[in-house]
Amino acid sequence: MLALERSLLCTVTWAIAVLQVAHALFEPPIITFEAADDSLDITRPLIVVDLDDHAGLHIAANAVADDFERVTGERAQTTNATADDLPSADNGTAVILVGALDSSSIISALVSSEKLNTSTIAGQWESFIVAVVDEPFDGVSRALVIAGSDKRGAIFGLYTLSEQMGVSPWYWWTDIVPKHHDAVYAIPTSTTFGKPSVRYRGIFINDESPALNTWVMDNFGPKYNSAFYAHVFELLLRMKANYLWPAMWPGYPNPGNSFFVDDPLNQATADAYGIVVSTSHHEPMQRATNEWLTSGNGTWDWTTNKDNVTTFFEAGAARAQGYESYFTMGMRGDSDGPLSGDDPMAILTDVIATQRSIIANMYGNETAVKQVWALYKEVQEVYEQGLEVPDDMTLLLSDDNFGNIRRLPTDDEHKREGGLGIYYHCEFVGDPRSYKWLNANSLGKAQQQLANAHSRGADRIWVINVADIKPMETPLSMIMAMAYNISSVTRDTIPQWLNAYAARELPEEHADEAGDLLLAYSRLMGVRKHEHIEGSTFSLLNYDEADRILNAWSTLVDRAEAVYAQLDDAHQLSFYQLLLHPIKASYIYNAVRVAQAKNSWYGQQRRTSANDWAGTALDYFGQDYDLQMEWNAMLDGKWAEIMRQTHYGYTSSWRAPIRDMITGLSYVQLRQDSYPAVGQMGVVVEGAIEPYVGLFNEGSDVAKPSRDDLVPVVTFVTTSPYGVSSQWFEVYGRGGGDVHWTASTEHPWVSLSSAEGDLSASSGWDTRIDVQVDWHAVPDGFNDTSLIYINGSDGSYEEVHLPVIKLAVPDDFSGFVEGGGYVSIEAAHYTSSSDPSSFIEYPYLSRIFNGSGTVGLDASVGRNLAIPDVAPSLEYAYYQFSDIADNVTVTMYFTMAIDTDPDEPFMWALSLDGSTPNATRLMPEPASAGELPDGWGDAVQDQVWTREQSFNSSAGAHVLEYWANGPAVLLEKIVIDMGGVKDSYLGPRESMLV
Ligand SMILES: *[C@@H]1O[C@H](CO)[C@@H](O)[C@H](O)[C@H]1NC(C)=O
Ligand SMILES: *[C@@H]1O[C@H](CO)[C@@H](O)[C@H](O)[C@H]1NC(C)=O
Repeated sequence: MLALERSLLCTVTWAIAVLQVAHALFEPPIITFEAADDSLDITRPLIVVDLDDHAGLHIAANAVADDFERVTGERAQTTNATADDLPSADNGTAVILVGALDSSSIISALVSSEKLNTSTIAGQWESFIVAVVDEPFDGVSRALVIAGSDKRGAIFGLYTLSEQMGVSPWYWWTDIVPKHHDAVYAIPTSTTFGKPSVRYRGIFINDESPALNTWVMDNFGPKYNSAFYAHVFELLLRMKANYLWPAMWPGYPNPGNSFFVDDPLNQATADAYGIVVSTSHHEPMQRATNEWLTSGNGTWDWTTNKDNVTTFFEAGAARAQGYESYFTMGMRGDSDGPLSGDDPMAILTDVIATQRSIIANMYGNETAVKQVWALYKEVQEVYEQGLEVPDDMTLLLSDDNFGNIRRLPTDDEHKREGGLGIYYHCEFVGDPRSYKWLNANSLGKAQQQLANAHSRGADRIWVINVADIKPMETPLSMIMAMAYNISSVTRDTIPQWLNAYAARELPEEHADEAGDLLLAYSRLMGVRKHEHIEGSTFSLLNYDEADRILNAWSTLVDRAEAVYAQLDDAHQLSFYQLLLHPIKASYIYNAVRVAQAKNSWYGQQRRTSANDWAGTALDYFGQDYDLQMEWNAMLDGKWAEIMRQTHYGYTSSWRAPIRDMITGLSYVQLRQDSYPAVGQMGVVVEGAIEPYVGLFNEGSDVAKPSRDDLVPVVTFVTTSPYGVSSQWFEVYGRGGGDVHWTASTEHPWVSLSSAEGDLSASSGWDTRIDVQVDWHAVPDGFNDTSLIYINGSDGSYEEVHLPVIKLAVPDDFSGFVEGGGYVSIEAAHYTSSSDPSSFIEYPYLSRIFNGSGTVGLDASVGRNLAIPDVAPSLEYAYYQFSDIADNVTVTMYFTMAIDTDPDEPFMWALSLDGSTPNATRLMPEPASAGELPDGWGDAVQDQVWTREQSFNSSAGAHVLEYWANGPAVLLEKIVIDMGGVKDSYLGPRESMLV
């Protein structure tokens, strides 16, 4: 009892120390910066590596020695030794003994002498023990021992020491300044780390022109050489990753990048560091496509040129001998296109047989090297048709290039010896539109998709397409953390992970705010990716949508600027790269789009301010490039051109523009007045339809307000105590002369934020007036239109119509209430459920960037459940006032996803007040396996599927019941339209809940 208490106490003490020191993103602490009972002072250590140990350990030991200098100001010493010939260190120098179980005589000796128990890591993959050992050898009184189950286990142990000392994996890539410490102590424990959740984890450097290519040419060039790659290898290992698909883009400068020949040292350097080299999904047998373009004989076609292609494969297999490699198998057609030939099944069978016989001849047997085979397009089709894939080969599944995994392992595939992996994109070049500028990833999305894939058994390879590497610090760090330990980030702990990440990269006192900013950024990326936003994407007129999104960005800019102002110069640099630049660039991008939209809309209305908005759009467009120039100048140009990716001017093609361009600005003739008949003062109401903008107005007497079919232009949606609390209308100038306007209301309980003003160059040509209703003062049962009168000094006269209904829901009703002609509900706010414990919320995944997340079934409930017999349901109670004869339309917003198994399509169903639910497929069946469903191109940019169903629903209380057939069907939002819903991207904001 006592002993237990003491050990608990001890844990607690260390936990407190940990809070102060560890930046290890939730890994157990191994060091501290203050001496404590029994800790070992390792401030000036001698790092000892066995003479015969793997080259990668010697490289890492020297990097960690440099890390000591980054932290304490003094480099650690390193030395080669063997168990029989250890340096004597009885002079007070702390010793760090590092080695792998299979290669270090030092570690073996410690195991034999029972000073070190390695049973927790023996035989494990990439695992390690960190232990303080007393008297490990004669002449060494104490040592910190880092023992790896294999070479990368030991390397990861070394880099874990660095990370906990405060050296970020990104220290070089993002100029992260480690915090200074005078002393470093090892905590007296023996801690096991491992084993990784995913065996091979790493990146694909891709789509590298123009940004990374230009930068590499300027700084390492002309080719991607081993000096460049050494930085990549070190970054990967510091993130505990091990796997690489190197840069391979064809084209400029001709013939494009080719890892194996651009620098003959690349392959050997990767192996020395400990990186497993593979090649992209369509580059078989350890050869780059560009090698075929330069040295291949004939066409890349198996049916017509098999002999030459075989020779080409043989050379790749021969060249890889002695290096740790993962061979990509199979074959695609030219330029990653489909195979030519009538019988892809026969071709692929022959290709694989030939490739395996090459391996058998060169390596002894056909399973002697690791092999991966990507299921992609026609290859997937052939596979689904029954192509036999050898059991030792890893099957690589992929996403739809936009983060939605297209296929998950079946229960049978899960048992394959070669296992299954995932190829996942953080950027993409291709259909329907590329995204390759700033990080545009929702972390909630990546976490949900990859955790799900892992739980389904896709744990052999995770390869992440990160394009230019640099902008992807945060998503890549999160994904690699998950790949090493799948529970290090869960759907609920993304904020905590981000705070810990920010604490590692930035001064502690700003970590929580920086973590919050990273989260807010990620959630705005859940709305839509930059390149997919045009001026017309978000609604200017309805639900304040465009302004709300722009305001969210401008708030982030203010908050980021406030942190930046408090940092010293060195920390400003890393904060700028990690947060301030992407936030500012995103804000400016959105500001350009909103200015373009206002310019276009105001031009349609012939507003005098339209031309100013053209200027504003151009200003922001200029600021975008100013920011790029500011970036280029940073650190004397260390990162110049790496953010040069264009982002304005996509047309109907997915191709990135060659040069930024904005289009379609509108100008009105400012020297000319509008027709006298319409006057020089215009009025527009929030949410109104504008049938004849800028063209003509009925009548010829400006002293009359709008009539007949123009009344909708100046009519609000019906307001009730359950609708939005405030609405607006705008009074604007549409001539050259000044206008003084006054406004008054018919009823005293309607109040205006201003009752008069001027439209002029000095006071501005546009005024927004907020309208509020004092519901206490409105007579019960009131159901009529209340008028607002606006008079202009030029004789213009207009009436704004405000339909007002003061109705009350029955006292016993609880649920959502109609307001503005609709009921809008965030799906996570269901009012009841047949089995609440079956449902989970992904709080950081949805387009509701400042609200709830998306909701779905817990995976443990099962997949492909029968609706409604087996699947649990959610219920949404709502109250309807509108007594409409027509149907109401229910729009369901589902988080973007794709069917992952042809036999288990995603299904959903609705019932109103107990009507019979009809289970419906979420997306249409694709034309063939491997194809994408109809509507994918829009849905993938919108990041949701919207689905509609109509019901007869009369005034009164109702219950909508919802089912999904499995955990992948995720619901964000429900909008029930009683006729009031207006166009927008996100749909109306949530209705009132009583
Ligand atoms: C061991 O010696 C080799 C050859 O001199 C050297 O490259 C390596 O860095 C040394 N290892 C350590 C840990 O110092
Ligand atoms: C102590 O001994 C070690 C190992 O021989 C040596 O590397 C180190 O420089 C010595 N330290 C001092 C302070 O003399």
